[in-house]
Amino acid sequence: MSERGRIDGRPSRGGPTVPPGANGPRGATNGPRGATNGASGSANGPRGSVIRPGGASTGTSSRGTSATAPSSGAPVPGEDLPREDQTLGTGEPRTSAPRKVLVTGGAGFIGSHVADGHLARGDQVWIVDDLSSGKRENLPEGAAFHEMDLADPALLDLFREVEFDLVNHHAAQIDVRISVEDPLKDARVNVLGLLNLLEAARRTGTRRVVYVSSGGVVYGEPEERPTPETAPKLPLSPYGVSKLSGEHYLHYYREVHGLEYVALRYSNVYGPRQDPHGEAGVVAIFCQRLLAGQEIHIFGDGEQTRDYVYVEDVAQANLRAAELELPRGGGLDQRAFNVGTGTGTSVNRLADILEAVSGLRTTRSFRAPRKGELRHSTLDVSRLAARGWAPGHSLKEGLRRTFQHIAGPAASKAGAR
Ligand SMILES: NC(=O)c1ccc[n+]([C@@H]2O[C@H](COP(=O)([O-])OP(=O)(O)OC[C@H]3O[C@@H](n4cnc5c(N)ncnc54)[C@H](O)[C@@H]3O)[C@@H](O)[C@H]2O)c1
Repeated sequence: MSERGRIDGRPSRGGPTVPPGANGPRGATNGPRGATNGASGSANGPRGSVIRPGGASTGTSSRGTSATAPSSGAPVPGEDLPREDQTLGTGEPRTSAPRKVLVTGGAGFIGSHVADGHLARGDQVWIVDDLSSGKRENLPEGAAFHEMDLADPALLDLFREVEFDLVNHHAAQIDVRISVEDPLKDARVNVLGLLNLLEAARRTGTRRVVYVSSGGVVYGEPEERPTPETAPKLPLSPYGVSKLSGEHYLHYYREVHGLEYVALRYSNVYGPRQDPHGEAGVVAIFCQRLLAGQEIHIFGDGEQTRDYVYVEDVAQANLRAAELELPRGGGLDQRAFNVGTGTGTSVNRLADILEAVSGLRTTRSFRAPRKGELRHSTLDVSRLAARGWAPGHSLKEGLRRTFQHIAGPAASKAGAR
C-alpha cells in the first residue's frame, strides 16, 4: 500500500474492516453478502476511529476517543440470507436494512454530514479521505476512517474486503479557480480518482453509487432559471467539465456494467463545518469577518444571486438518492437531480440576513466583479421534490445555525444583542 494509503492508528489485530459503530445501539448490522460485522459490542466508537483494510486498528479524533474493531470470524445475524432477499431491483439497497456505505470525502464539509445521516439511519459507514481539504475533527463517531487518495490502487483492497452496498462519492477537487490554473490536477482527482473508485465498485458488486455533481457549473451560463436538469450542459471551467464527465462515466458503467447510480447536482451548499474556500464559501467568510469586526468585501454590485441550500437538507437528499426507484434506462438527466431551493438570494441580501441573525454589523466595500463569475444561478428542484425531498431549513434558520457553529458559544450572546 502506498504511503498515502497507509492507515494510521495502533497496530492491526488482524480483524475485519468493520466500523466500530456497526454493532451500536441501533442493533447489529451486517451486509447482504455476509461480511463480518461488529460483534464485539464496541458500539460507541469515536468520531474518527481509524481502521486499516485487512486489520482492525484504532485511532482518535478530536471529537472522540479511541475504539477497536472487532475480531474476525464472528457470526453475522442474517448472514445466510440470499443477497436478492436483501436488495431491490434496480440497485436500490433495501430501505429498511442497514447498509455498508462508503462515503468518500467524509472528512469534508458536506461528506461529513452525509456520513452522519447514514450512521443515524443505522448504516455501517466507512470513510475514505486524503485530508487534503477535509479535517480529522469532521470525522463522525462510529465511522471507519481510511486516510487514502482516491486514486490509490489500495482502494480496491478495501472494496474487496468490505463489499460495499452503496458508495457515496463526495471527495473531489472542488475549487473552480484551481481547475483553471491546473486542469491536470483537477482531472487527476475528479476523473482518474473517480475511475479508480468506479473500477473497484464494478469489480466488487457495489449496488449503487451516489455521485455528487454541481448544478452551479455543469449548466454553464444557463438561459433558463430556475434551471431544470434537462437544460443544456455547457460547463465553462475544467471543474465543470470534470464533474459532468463523471456523470458520463457513470452512465457508461450503468449501461455496460450494470452499476446503478444517481447524480446530485448541488447549488451552493452552506452550513456548519463549511470551509471558506468552497463554492458557497461566502457564508463562512462573511461570518468570520462579522465576528472579527472586519469589513465585508463584495465583488460587483452584490446583486448577483445564488441558490443557497443548507447542508443538512443536502444530507437528506443523499439519503433519499440512496433509495430512489430509478427507471431501467434513460440518459444522464433521468438519473440527475438538482439539489437546491429554487430561490435566488443576492449577496447583499445574504449579508443583511447574516447581520440580522448575528446581531452584528459591519461595513461593506464593493470591488470589481470577478472575471467569469455567473450573474445568476438558481436550480429547479421539482424533480427531487416530486420524489419526497424538500429543503427543511429556511435561509434565515440555516444562516443562524451556521453563524452559531462558526462563532461557538459566543454566538448566542452576540445573537442576543
Ligand atoms: N460546497 C458546495 O457548495 C458544492 C456545490 C456543488 C458541488 N459540491 C461537491 O460536493 C462535494 C463535497 O464538497 P465540499 O464543499 O464538502 O468540499 P470539501 O473540500 O469540504 O470536501 C471534499 C473532501 O474530499 C477530500 N479529497 C479531496 N481530494 C481527495 C482525494 N484525491 N482523495 C481522497 N479524498 C480527497 C478532501 O480532503 C475533503 O475532505 C464535492 O464533490 C464538490 O464538488 C459542493
